[in-house]
Amino acid sequence: MEKLRVENLTKVFGKHPKKILQLLEDGLKRDEIFKTTQHTVGIGNVNFSVEEGETFVIMGLSGSGKSTLIRCLNLLNKPTAGKIIIDEENIMDYDKKQMREFRRNKIAMVFQHFGLFSHKTVIENVEFGLEIKGEKKEYRYKKSLETLKTVGLEGWEDYRISALSGGMKQRVGLARALANDPEIILMDEPFSALDPLIRRDMHTELLDLQSKLKKTIIFITHDVNEAFKLGDRIAVLKEGEIVQIGTPEEILENPENEYIRNFIQDIDRSRILKAENIMRKSILKLNNSQKPKIALEILDDSDFQYGFVVDRETRKIVGVVEADDLIDAIKNKKTIEEVMHLDYITVSKDEYVKEIIEKAYETKYPIAVIDESENYIGRIQRGSLLKALV
Ligand SMILES: Nc1ncnc2c1ncn2[C@@H]1O[C@H](COP(=O)(O)OP(=O)(O)O)[C@@H](O)[C@H]1O
Ligand SMILES: [Mg+2]
Repeated sequence: MEKLRVENLTKVFGKHPKKILQLLEDGLKRDEIFKTTQHTVGIGNVNFSVEEGETFVIMGLSGSGKSTLIRCLNLLNKPTAGKIIIDEENIMDYDKKQMREFRRNKIAMVFQHFGLFSHKTVIENVEFGLEIKGEKKEYRYKKSLETLKTVGLEGWEDYRISALSGGMKQRVGLARALANDPEIILMDEPFSALDPLIRRDMHTELLDLQSKLKKTIIFITHDVNEAFKLGDRIAVLKEGEIVQIGTPEEILENPENEYIRNFIQDIDRSRILKAENIMRKSILKLNNSQKPKIALEILDDSDFQYGFVVDRETRKIVGVVEADDLIDAIKNKKTIEEVMHLDYITVSKDEYVKEIIEKAYETKYPIAVIDESENYIGRIQRGSLLKALV
């Protein structure tokens, strides 16, 4: 279900932002508009929608408009034009009271530089949002303790923020956002200030949390590996405009243009692409009750060297043969089952290329790919494993 939708969202900074809209409509780019009018197009005509429970990543270089965009979503930035539809309501039409309710109950934000009160204690920081909401003291305390536990900070409640490491501070930031039970969490480069190892812990933590909480998350980053690790889908932002939106696999397989190709060239594809993304769908299926002569004809007509043999009844793979095996069977009056090899490898369609590469060393045959019901759906040639990586 759609949770949030942004339509032609534009934010212009400067004295007369509305006057710039026509220039945008005429197709002028950010640079030209700045040169001629001294107005900055933070974002221009941005469109996307986010599903409930989705982690939607907005990725772009510094200055591409990421913060401008995310700050529009809770109206910290007032958009110059466009719509922000959340749960079917255009939040730009909200009056003050509706806006207050919205900020208190529906949405929360985690900031790059934590945005915590450093002279206060951990638990005071987490309680902050609940306090604004007017929750009772006992409830606030109990809820905050619980939330600290979820982010791995049990026992740290009475420490001052200034005594904490960066990673721990951001856990507090996350706890503060979660304590309010928001439906949408906005995260503006929350891990950028952390050391790589800590950042990796936080990634795991966030993925774990999200698998339980299933919040709608809008996550901003300039780091392509982070984007591809965390995002269900990714929108790439360039000079205030979206260049491409897609799942990590879609973007890797079909980059929209040179800009995106450059962006993704450093990505470790083996951790993103799965068996089904690189397999060749198998039309060739031999079965164990076929005559070897028929099987040989089928195999010869294909451009495959090896053929997987499936059981005629169950449709599950039972072996693999090559032409020489079938010739042996024909000559010596054996069945397919007697000549087929059993030391092939199967992988599930959801297995990552990285794991498949490790297994590929153990076999000389192509790797068989199976679906949830263990039916044979495709094969991976060893060569295509390597091709998938470049
Ligand atoms: N309050 C502001 N006033 C004027 N220009 C701004 C303001 N905020 C952001 N900008 C400009 O908008 C562009 C996008 O900035 P920002 O959204 O912060 O990018 P990012 O978060 O991707 O680094 C930049 O050129 C920036 O200078
Ligand atoms: Mg920013």
